[in-house]
This record gives sequence, C-alpha cells and structure tokens, in this order.
Amino acid sequence: MNDKISVMISEEELMKRIRELAEEISRDYEGEAVHLICILKGSVFFTCELAKRLTVPVTLDFMKVSSYGDGTKSSGIVRIEKDTDESVEGKNVIVIEDIVDSGNTLSFLLEVMKNKKPKSLKLCSLLDKPDRRVKPVSVDYTGFVIEDKFVVGFGLDYAQRYRNLPYIGVVEETGE
Ligand code: IMP
Ligand code: MG
Repeated sequence: MNDKISVMISEEELMKRIRELAEEISRDYEGEAVHLICILKGSVFFTCELAKRLTVPVTLDFMKVSSYGDGTKSSGIVRIEKDTDESVEGKNVIVIEDIVDSGNTLSFLLEVMKNKKPKSLKLCSLLDKPDRRVKPVSVDYTGFVIEDKFVVGFGLDYAQRYRNLPYIGVVEETGE
C-alpha cells in the first residue's frame, strides 16, 4: 500500500495557474454570471479554488458521471450517476473537470448539456492529456497540458486514493 509518488505539478504552480484561469474567466464573463458544473468527485478541489477567485457572480451545481472501472483506463461507456439539481437553461455554463483523457466522458457530457439549452457552454479542465484522445473534445480553459502519465492528487484518484494530495503527482511504484 506504499506507492511512491513523484511531484509533477507543485501546489505553488497549481495555485498560480488557477489564479490566472480565474482572471481570464472573470474577464471573459465581465457583466455576466457564470454557472459552474463541478464533475464529482475529481474536480471538487479545482472547482473550489477556481470559484473562490472568480470576480463575476457564481452559482454552483454538481454532476457525477462514471466511465466504469476503478483502474487507470476509461471504458468508453458513460453513465450519469447524479444529474444537476437546477436547470441550466439560459445560463452561462462552465463545466469544470479535473482531466480530459480519452475525451469519452466530456464528449458525452457536453452533448447532454447542449440539449439543455444553456445560454453558453464552455469547458474548463485543470489537466489535459491530448495524446490519449479518442473522441474530439476542445477545452476552452486548460490549466496544464500533460504527457501521457497516470496522475493523482488535487482531486484525482487511483482507485479512490490520493485525492487529498495538494499537488499533482505520478505513481511510480505500486506495492500491495
Ligand atoms: P476520459 O478518459 O476523458 O473520459 O476521462 C475520464 C475520467 O478518467 C476523468 O474525469 C478522470 O476521473 C479519470 N482519469 C483520466 N486520466 C486520469 C489520470 O491520469 N489520473 C486519475 N484519473 C484519471
Ligand atoms: Mg476518477
């Protein structure tokens, strides 16, 4: 149970980039309100840090989707486990994700969202792993583009562990 984790993106780098993203989003939506949809569980940490730094009015909602499996691969079959509490119609929706990997989750989710008639729809992801894309998804606000490594921390898990790490790390070894 003692995996060795090396730091890929430090807490300082994360916070600096999140401040920049918040400034960019606040500028883009000046005079408007934004409705953030946090995708559980992975993007909770990112959503909180980002939302705190936005200077435009913010409302929040949550969705939970699963792309089956507890391992390191997405299955491609996406299911909504928890839908939003409130309607997104007429709102400036920004979907907040932890990472876009294969793109299966987000391409499905953005299609579902579009049909609910938001005023605008954008995607903000802390991390983007473009090398692994099988479905085209364009990210409007990206924290960091990373190489094809399985990462944990700042909300991201490996079989539900390591979400609480304050940095983004790579699992080097797996001990049982
Ligand atoms: P997708 O492959 O783009 O559909 O990504 C689905 C989900 O897989 C993401 O929202 C993450 O929860 C998870 N995921 C993808 N890559 C990683 C990773 O490197 N570490 C932890 N979770 C990941
Ligand atoms: Mg996950």
